[in-house]
Amino acid sequence: MPKSELIAALAPEITAIRRDLHRHPELMYDVHRTAGVVAQKLTEWGVDEVVAGIGKTGVVGVIKGRGQGSGKVIAMRADMDALPIHEETNLEHRSTVPGKMHACGHDGHTAMLLGAAKYLAETRDFDGTAVVIFQPAEEGGAGAKAMIDDGLMTRFGIQEVYGMHNKPGLPVGQFDVRKGPTMAAADRFHIKIEGLGGHAAAPHRVKDPIVAASQLVTAMQTISSRNANPLDSVVVSVTALLAGEAFNVIPQTAELKGTVRTLTPEMRALAQQRITDIVDGLMKAFEMEYTLDYHLGYPITFNHAAQTEFVTSTIEAAFGEGKVDTSVPPTMGSEDFSYMLEERPGAFVNIGNGDSAGLHHPAYEFNDEAIPVGVTYWANLVETAMPQRG
Ligand code: NI
Repeated sequence: MPKSELIAALAPEITAIRRDLHRHPELMYDVHRTAGVVAQKLTEWGVDEVVAGIGKTGVVGVIKGRGQGSGKVIAMRADMDALPIHEETNLEHRSTVPGKMHACGHDGHTAMLLGAAKYLAETRDFDGTAVVIFQPAEEGGAGAKAMIDDGLMTRFGIQEVYGMHNKPGLPVGQFDVRKGPTMAAADRFHIKIEGLGGHAAAPHRVKDPIVAASQLVTAMQTISSRNANPLDSVVVSVTALLAGEAFNVIPQTAELKGTVRTLTPEMRALAQQRITDIVDGLMKAFEMEYTLDYHLGYPITFNHAAQTEFVTSTIEAAFGEGKVDTSVPPTMGSEDFSYMLEERPGAFVNIGNGDSAGLHHPAYEFNDEAIPVGVTYWANLVETAMPQRG
């Protein structure tokens, strides 16, 4: 049977799995049911090795090709976790868990990679080893890093790693991929300021943390306007400013929280240095005590050149010219697949989800029409990277 028919034939089963996962969303590392479904299906389909419990609740499957001469090991990754959002759809397969929802389509990512595993285990028409990675806690828990710290790359001998995310607004059947930095590093800061509270009618007897905090908010805007090269990108957003509660009291303390998004290591370091210096200088000027907690979050998602060209050519070969846009700009969102791309060369592509609500929206829905497209992409990637000879 030709590949397109094989993949079309497994689409109903994969769609049913996707909808089952959608009904039962789980958060962060607490993806026990989802990981159980994944491990059970991989085993049922004859995947050679199925290992659970990597990075707490991650699952890895190993599929050997018919040929074993190339010595190549190519890995593909899907994320399994949902979001703390209350679903607002009337879908028959909507979330059964109040306050939890697959609003980022990770149910679809998991299903598509399962479909590819089933196809590859059935056909094995490649020379080398395919590794399927199902990770927990993409949404803020660094599940990719937890799996790496558990020996993911070395234990399975992974040489290259590939990832995929669905993209609302991009038509089904279309892809995009960008060489180099494609998503931002996401760091965050938490500043606690301590002044001297007192009566609001006697400002000369207090050290007002609200005035100091306000100066800080304004001064940090100069990182993008006066420190960054105007052709580079940096976002510094103060997203929380907490201080005081009465009309006639100047509070003792103030707190600021915020996020920093950057696309190059140089800009990332510059932003951190400038925030550190601005906070220190201004707090000295206003006679404030302070603590600055600067947390480095997900790194820059950096697509390697050769692997990006490779996936571009496999998409064009499978789906036709014009089906992959390589001119998309980077986004300031972040993605923990970045940790895997720091370990091994690879590429992260976007796959069209059609005209759906946006990611993380309560009306978002993964588009099941994308399932055969995603399965075909993964299957082609393996068969093209590790062609079976003869
Ligand atoms: Ni996502």
